[in-house]
Amino acid sequence: MKIDVMDSAWDGVRCDALLLPLFEDDDFESGVCAEVDRRLDGLLSEIRATEEWLGEFGDCTVLYRPQGLPFRRLVLVGAGKKSEYDLASIRDLTMLAVRKVKGYDLQSVAIFRRSEIDPYPAAQAAVEGVTLATYEGDDYKTEDKSKNFINEVRLITPAQLDSDQFEWATRKGYVIGQATNLARRLVNQPGNEINPTRLAAEARRIADKHGLEIDVLEEPEMEAQGMDSLMAVARGSEEPARLIILKHSGAEDDSPPLVFVGKGVTFDSGGLSLKPPKSMEDMKCDKAGACAVLAALQAIAELGVKRDVIGVLPTVENMVSGRAQRPGDIVRSLSGKTIEVLNTDAEGRLILADALYYAHRYKPEMIVDLATLTGACVVALGNYRAGLFSNDEQACERVLASSIRAGERLWRLPLDDHYRDLLDSPIADIRNIGDRWGGAITAAKFLQEFVGDIPWCHLDIAGVDQYPESSKLKGATGFGVRTLVELATAS
Ligand code: BES
Ligand code: ZN
Ligand code: ZN
Repeated sequence: MKIDVMDSAWDGVRCDALLLPLFEDDDFESGVCAEVDRRLDGLLSEIRATEEWLGEFGDCTVLYRPQGLPFRRLVLVGAGKKSEYDLASIRDLTMLAVRKVKGYDLQSVAIFRRSEIDPYPAAQAAVEGVTLATYEGDDYKTEDKSKNFINEVRLITPAQLDSDQFEWATRKGYVIGQATNLARRLVNQPGNEINPTRLAAEARRIADKHGLEIDVLEEPEMEAQGMDSLMAVARGSEEPARLIILKHSGAEDDSPPLVFVGKGVTFDSGGLSLKPPKSMEDMKCDKAGACAVLAALQAIAELGVKRDVIGVLPTVENMVSGRAQRPGDIVRSLSGKTIEVLNTDAEGRLILADALYYAHRYKPEMIVDLATLTGACVVALGNYRAGLFSNDEQACERVLASSIRAGERLWRLPLDDHYRDLLDSPIADIRNIGDRWGGAITAAKFLQEFVGDIPWCHLDIAGVDQYPESSKLKGATGFGVRTLVELATAS
């Protein structure tokens, strides 16, 4: 698909369909809406007056052969309220609008820019949206319903623009969009398709293609190094664990690397603390953190980011068997600290404990981990924002700023030492669950124990790794890829 950015009048672009975002609060008295309304003999005002189509976000209406306009279709794209329109809206709306016309017999579509947002990040977000629209998420349907006729998308942006900056923005949008689709595709793969070994093979393929260094630790090596916390989770499964390490070397001096750590549980049954069937249905997605880190590294390599970035992906399958760990078991983590495992379903923190401690060897400037860690975080924040926890104000600021540029929503939650008391064990150094309340925070406190003084941010993405039921979109979102790439490119 060819993506162009054009600086021209809305009716000066040759294309099969024009996608025109309309806000709920547009008054059609001036600007492009007024012009289109006039050319169509008041049709827009008439549609608005019916109150049948109000321009709710993502709601699209297609007008065929619009009289007096040089396009075969005019698609009115509901853009919601003007005051709520941000970069994330641009990306999501572009994705929804392109998906709407994807199966239509149209070769080229143009999208008219309507916001006042800085044109470069806006173009990046729009190109991301177009790229995201090319992935359907129905990989296992035998009939391919996702036919796509569109081969050209033009973004019309009426502003004086610097073509170099534009090229960078659109390239970045495309590379990030492709990487996000990679993460989505991997996360959507079910447990019988992908396991730690196959995820490692996939990582190797990506590393070879994009010039990343890769190292995959197998079980004997992890055992020899003393990663018993990770291995205790892995032992219940027939599938062996893997620790995947990816390196992008872009720094021109000896500045310390960024280290990204991603939870890679290819299926989470809960172990002997077995999940009820309903809660288990989505547990192929418990590798979303690892997939986001892998995809971010692909994008970082493709963009030639001038700093060192390392990805550490602990991958296991959490299953039940005669070899599975038991509630009450005590394991010795790589850090030397002992853990009383009271609940085998709190497995993410056990594999992350060893991966986070392993990351110390890189003397990182900052560690960012991504994990579908707790149902409690979903209870706290729903499906709209991911939880952010940090032991360092500056690191936290940088990650928050990156997430805003990336159009991904985070919300900071506390890490007071008070919550650490809930993890005290009478018999070991720490236990792996707190009490019933504040579960996202006690999980983060557990991770903090293995991070020490390194500036660190933990993103609990349990609520945002998949599109919610209410959404028009289905399956994995690829959340986190964009924030990580923004963080790596910003500094
Ligand atoms: N993978 C789950 C967390 C999860 C829940 C992700 C819902 C996505 C959606 C995690 O391993 C888990 O089971 N956590 C437990 C922790 C508890 C036992 C302390 C949870 O949240 O119930
Ligand atoms: Zn679990
Ligand atoms: Zn889990």
